[in-house]
Amino acid sequence: MMTQQTMQAIRVHSYGEPEQLMLEQIERPQPQAGQVLLRVHAAGVNPIDWKIRQGLLKDFMPTTFPYTPGLDVAGVVEEIGPGVTAFEIGQAVFGQATSGSYAEYATASIDVLAPMPRTLNFTEAASVPVGAATAWAALFEYGGLTASQRVLIQGAAGGVGLFAVQLAKWKGAQVIGTSSTANLDFVRGLGADTVVDYTTTPVESAVQDVDLVLDGVGEKTLTSSLATVRRGGTLISIATPPSQEHAQERGVHAMMIHSQPSSLLLQTLAQLIDEGQLKVPAIPTFPLNQAQQAQNISQSGHGRGRIVLRLTTEPTHHR
Ligand SMILES: NC(=O)c1ccc[n+]([C@@H]2O[C@H](COP(=O)([O-])OP(=O)(O)OC[C@H]3O[C@@H](n4cnc5c(N)ncnc54)[C@H](OP(=O)(O)O)[C@@H]3O)[C@@H](O)[C@H]2O)c1
Repeated sequence: MMTQQTMQAIRVHSYGEPEQLMLEQIERPQPQAGQVLLRVHAAGVNPIDWKIRQGLLKDFMPTTFPYTPGLDVAGVVEEIGPGVTAFEIGQAVFGQATSGSYAEYATASIDVLAPMPRTLNFTEAASVPVGAATAWAALFEYGGLTASQRVLIQGAAGGVGLFAVQLAKWKGAQVIGTSSTANLDFVRGLGADTVVDYTTTPVESAVQDVDLVLDGVGEKTLTSSLATVRRGGTLISIATPPSQEHAQERGVHAMMIHSQPSSLLLQTLAQLIDEGQLKVPAIPTFPLNQAQQAQNISQSGHGRGRIVLRLTTEPTHHR
């Protein structure tokens, strides 16, 4: 007789505060066609995770309860779903989970999965997918950033911003980042040419006529973002939608984007990481049973880089 396979997972039973994140013993998910089952080694904690939990996105991303949170994942292929030939059992991968990555096992669609960068461990790899893929989409796919341009990155110390600064430098652009005083050196260390401390300096007084702004903060910063873009330039927000009226008054193309990693983009990012072009900074980690604390910190909006839940102990570097 087959015994039912279970796992530890975080589950949310209704919208609310971090206390809604409960550690439970539940059934393992099963990979469907085009999916694999992963043994999760690490799960990234993204702001969208707590926004969904609070019910902030319920109008356009309705949730069925109970659910397991978490998109960013790094782990090892445990089982292959029907029709999957691109991955094999035992392979280390990273990408986006379908069934929720705050769990010992998660399913993932192979469209949003790639072999893990050889030079990263699982914790580091789980910090990459949403952050780096969003930065790439904003700068290059929507923003059309070129080597001769200047770009302002608002929220440069965040999980998206830290990759945006590095990717824009890799492209050859001139990069200005904003952060609080505590993160100035961190952002400089990522390669930003100039860092503006938004707690002491109005950003629009220090920065003018940039070609592109990536706004990773939203709401109040959109005003300073708009004021810094040259006429004919572009403002890409990933947090809240910019005012089209104000953008038109200033002759700026402004948009809010929603990005999703693809397998191909994850492979490109993995290559840049393994070539040493894209670095993953030190990562604050929590065990699965401290998901509440991890989301609390994410929700504060003032962390440094991506927070990661570690589900296993692992050597420093995966080979
Ligand atoms: N649309 C999409 O596809 C997409 C994808 C990913 C993320 N997002 C959204 O984009 C936002 C950023 O995501 P994330 O993962 O980078 O968040 P995060 O890792 O939580 O980073 C937030 C960062 O914002 C900085 N910050 C806060 N207030 C600031 C201000 N006034 N000026 C400049 N920096 C400020 C903080 O640095 P200090 O401590 O130095 O202030 C912190 O490092 C979130 O709202 C997230 O939901 C959207």
